[in-house]
Amino acid sequence: MSGGLRVIEGGRGDESSPGLLIVGAAEVATMAGGVRAGLTQGHVGRLTADLAADGGGPDAPVVACWEGRIAAVGPRSKVEAALEAEGYPLGRFIRVDADGGVVTPGLIDPHTHLLFGGSREHELILRQQGASYMEILAAGGGILSTVAATRLADAETLAVHGRRWLDEMLGHGVTTIEAKSGYGLDLETEIRLLEVAWQLGREGPIEIVPTYLGAHAVPPEFRSRPDGVEAYVRSVIEDQLPGVAAHGRARFCDVFCETGVFSADQSRRILEAASAYGMIPRLHADELHPSGGAELAAELGAASADHLAAPSDAGIDALAVAAATDQPVVATLLPATTWFLMKEHHAPARRFIERGVPVAIGTDFNPGTSPTASLPLAMTAACLNLRMTPDETLAAVTINAARALRLEDEIGSLEPGKAADVVIWKVPTSTQIPYWPGADIVRTVIKRGRIVLDRP
Ligand code: NIG
Ligand code: FE
Repeated sequence: MSGGLRVIEGGRGDESSPGLLIVGAAEVATMAGGVRAGLTQGHVGRLTADLAADGGGPDAPVVACWEGRIAAVGPRSKVEAALEAEGYPLGRFIRVDADGGVVTPGLIDPHTHLLFGGSREHELILRQQGASYMEILAAGGGILSTVAATRLADAETLAVHGRRWLDEMLGHGVTTIEAKSGYGLDLETEIRLLEVAWQLGREGPIEIVPTYLGAHAVPPEFRSRPDGVEAYVRSVIEDQLPGVAAHGRARFCDVFCETGVFSADQSRRILEAASAYGMIPRLHADELHPSGGAELAAELGAASADHLAAPSDAGIDALAVAAATDQPVVATLLPATTWFLMKEHHAPARRFIERGVPVAIGTDFNPGTSPTASLPLAMTAACLNLRMTPDETLAAVTINAARALRLEDEIGSLEPGKAADVVIWKVPTSTQIPYWPGADIVRTVIKRGRIVLDRP
């Protein structure tokens, strides 16, 4: 923890107290009420205070945390009465002053490529000169140049890199992320990436959900073969998946399902094999062309279909049908990527929302297409390019992002019993979070009831 605790009254000033009471908020965006879709995508469960009139008065919203969980949320008088009635020792709650800021759940980044070697700034210049992302990849650059650098990076190097970017994410209010492998493309390096991701999550404070992405590209040693793509798909299924499953760190399996990378049929075979090992499918789907990715995500009951900048009408229909079941596939949109790739076509977020598909947003943090670790910046891009409202984007990086990681019962909203992952912002309302792109607007981050960042 950096900086001093702003304990304003009560409590014993005991930093090891298991209780926190966050007071002085102008607004609490609870996100209570479950996964958002359609008309509810923009419901943030907003509680507000008239700070000018009653400051920290009895009606002002507070958040109480106890032993790492949310104990109660609501008007101060009601929360205090409820805590007392339930036998909580009110005097032991350390009071933290939100100082007129908004309080939200910790943000969740459901799509990152956290760990990699090297950087690819030269590709920005190539793309400015007219080269396309796929042309750079076909020429052995793109993902493949990161694969070459990552294979050379040992676990400690990857961990140092990971900590640097996790620190940055924490500073943007992020408390949980998904982290993909996919820059090894051989069993040894893929396992190194998954292990480092898992260890960094254990180290904290950000929790990390590892995803195996062995089918991110065809590696150079297979590209030279006439049957290279098919041979690599077989190798993923027969050589890598059993080892990744035995290693036991990957919760999800992802595939880059895209015209010219892995077909929908190849993606299906990989994801079905992964499911048999207990890994939950998710997909890089229809990023550049309609490639059958959205349809496949719906068919497999994937946790999430990601990118979706170019889905077919049938793909949108399939996700809409899945949305009407009790296992909706989340559309995880990555607008920072389309921005950084200078694309004119963006994911049809409004169509997904109109069709009742739950929408999440991620950074897609990676060295090629989205070198930003700022989820609030991705929210801004969603407002500007996907025409999502600020409220819709908040649901997209909290409760819906939690659902994309199948963690909606544990994180993503401020509701009693859930993990006490909380952000206090320097702005008074959550609609300002995407409104100040690039600004440092996080005041305090609380992870499982512990203050892990404090910038009074
Ligand atoms: O989600 N498109 C595929 N994978 C990443 C980019 C990876 C890279 O270019 O290094 C993405 O954009
Ligand atoms: Fe990605």
